[in-house]
Amino acid sequence: MRYLISMFFLFIFAFGFSQNIQSPDKRLKLSFAVSGSGEPFYQLMFNKASVIKSSKLGLELKGQPNLLAGFSISKIDSSAVDENWNPVWGEVKTIRNNYRELVITLLQKETSRNIRLRFRLFNDGLGFRYEFPNQQKLSHFVVANEKTEFNLTGDHKTFWIPGDYDTNEYSYYTTNLSEITPERMKSADEIAARFPIANTVQTPLMMKTKEGLYINIHEAALINYPAMILAIDRNVFSLTSHLVSDGVGNKAYLQTPFNTPWRTIIVSDKATDILSSKIILNLNEPTKIQDVSWIKPMKFVGVWWEMHVGKATWNYADTTNLILKNTEWNKLKPNGRHGANTANTKRYIDFAAKHGIAGVLVEGWNVGWEDWFGQWKEEVFDFVTPYPDFNVSELQSYANSKGVKLIMHHETSGSVTNYDRRLDDAFQFMKKNGYDAVKTGYVGKIIPRGEHHDSQWTINHYNRVAEKASQYKIMLDAHEPVRPTGLHRTFPNWMACEAARGNEFNAWSGGNPPDHETILPFTRLIGGPMDYTPGIFQIKINYYNPSSVSQVHTTLAKQLALYLTMYSPLQMAADLPESYEKHMDAFQFIEDVAVDWDDTKILEAEPGDYITIARKAKAKDTWFLGAITDENIRLAVADLSFLDAGKNYVATFYLDGDKAHWKDNPMEYQIQKFVVTNKTILKLKLASGGGAAVSFKPASANDVKQLKKYPAK
Ligand code: NOJ
Ligand code: CA
Repeated sequence: MRYLISMFFLFIFAFGFSQNIQSPDKRLKLSFAVSGSGEPFYQLMFNKASVIKSSKLGLELKGQPNLLAGFSISKIDSSAVDENWNPVWGEVKTIRNNYRELVITLLQKETSRNIRLRFRLFNDGLGFRYEFPNQQKLSHFVVANEKTEFNLTGDHKTFWIPGDYDTNEYSYYTTNLSEITPERMKSADEIAARFPIANTVQTPLMMKTKEGLYINIHEAALINYPAMILAIDRNVFSLTSHLVSDGVGNKAYLQTPFNTPWRTIIVSDKATDILSSKIILNLNEPTKIQDVSWIKPMKFVGVWWEMHVGKATWNYADTTNLILKNTEWNKLKPNGRHGANTANTKRYIDFAAKHGIAGVLVEGWNVGWEDWFGQWKEEVFDFVTPYPDFNVSELQSYANSKGVKLIMHHETSGSVTNYDRRLDDAFQFMKKNGYDAVKTGYVGKIIPRGEHHDSQWTINHYNRVAEKASQYKIMLDAHEPVRPTGLHRTFPNWMACEAARGNEFNAWSGGNPPDHETILPFTRLIGGPMDYTPGIFQIKINYYNPSSVSQVHTTLAKQLALYLTMYSPLQMAADLPESYEKHMDAFQFIEDVAVDWDDTKILEAEPGDYITIARKAKAKDTWFLGAITDENIRLAVADLSFLDAGKNYVATFYLDGDKAHWKDNPMEYQIQKFVVTNKTILKLKLASGGGAAVSFKPASANDVKQLKKYPAK
């Protein structure tokens, strides 16, 4: 029946779309119309192919008439923009913002209310949003539902995780749209707080049509609004926006004038274009931060993985019932395994200093970890009191003397009210003690109880933290927040988020399947950089704990390639110094690799299968390349025509060993050096679950004499 109805609309509107715009290159066409009953519709074409069939737009409000029908067009504006801008940091030096815009003002006569629909059509996709101008008949209102449809043309191959109000830490499913069923969901008890909604999926949602078109749906500039998940109708391949609810079942409390986040549809017949799309950033507002000199991409190590593998603890004592303000911490009996102690932290500082790593993260430095998790405890951390064995001032002067920066850690345990109240004190403590970057965390259920990680209230919290951090000149890396929507353009100090299933799941759960890192760039990373925490060399966790069956589901060489394929301006070298010290030849790549880029070339990509990316270091003449594969052995091919013509480069290859395999032989690697030019075509053998990393630097005359040319064939 639904099918008939949509066919009916298609029939009416196929010839009746009153407004059309084309992308600057004319490949995409957006059409807009209002039906006989005043419902707004849009559709999107790529060349001759339909991407989004005739789909309705509108919202349901609480306690006042809906904004779904009864509209007529009262004004139409169109314009075009073509400009360049330079991000503070990023994958490329300059970003082109080139689109055609269509703005439709709609009047709902019966209620005398008007809304605007703003469409921006780029060469690589569409963004649109709802705008509510300030007006007499619409001032304060509550959104009960947003009803934006994305009616798809077939049973596309889809890379998805369950729609969930609290988490994105699932591993991905690859199925057709019709196979997104509640029965398919595996249990995911390893995720601390879940609130899955049946028959919904998270965005960014990546799809591929049978004809080979790649379609990605997400949102940009999520401000003062809940996150959008997508409800699926499997029978007609239709998706509808479903906003994350708050504790009383409402979605958003708004006041005019207000603009919703942008709904985005990235489209191309090339998978590589999806990864290079800048739509999400272009749809976010430029930063207002005037002085950005303090915002610095960096690599860091941390007192961190040793807790995840069970070698050390975050907590100082093994007591399990503490009241923050009444506890005399120096009277507690230490458990002897506390990772964040002064001596251990100095060890990491020494390692960082020796290898040119700018930062050292220390988790578990502050009191409260004894009963932090799963208690829904509000007064859980104060963010200013160190454990008795962590000497803040001594460590600051030590780090200073070695030219290393300590990175602060604020785990909130989901108690957002507590963090909000203490935020100024926490940031002032940081500044007083020389910290200028913080990793936040939101493990567990949110307080205020009933709110979710992705509801409007909590989203306002994350944005408030980013803004306040910018006032204090603090760089931010948030774990377990809502997935990003390009706000790092507006807040370039908000450098990374986790908001997906990171490498840590490999330490203590069934882990991340070998195709995981080939999907993330097409899904979670479409919204912004991810703190994936790459660089694990000691792959099997039974090394630390004989009873553990956990392991990283990649080879060692693939861990190196992730520094290229998993973009972030903050990149952790996540393993322990002692693991690196056993493989200093391979660690050299982590030491060398850049974290900020002038240029990026997505050389090959297919979601779920493989990715090869080359990037040019910021203001330097060096390039780096990373290639990864899923569980299948692969030959990555990289045409080096991006290198400067007529120049020789020394290419250092960090490759899977001949017999490497993510499961049985993950740590075998080989390192080779050759001279290459922009005429060279690399052929890199990737093992099952494997990868390759390559660095390129201009060759000296001596290098050219001593090293072999990369063998052609
Ligand atoms: C989860 C974070 O993702 C992880 O990096 C951190 O170590 C723990 N929470 C504890 O805060
Ligand atoms: Ca996490």
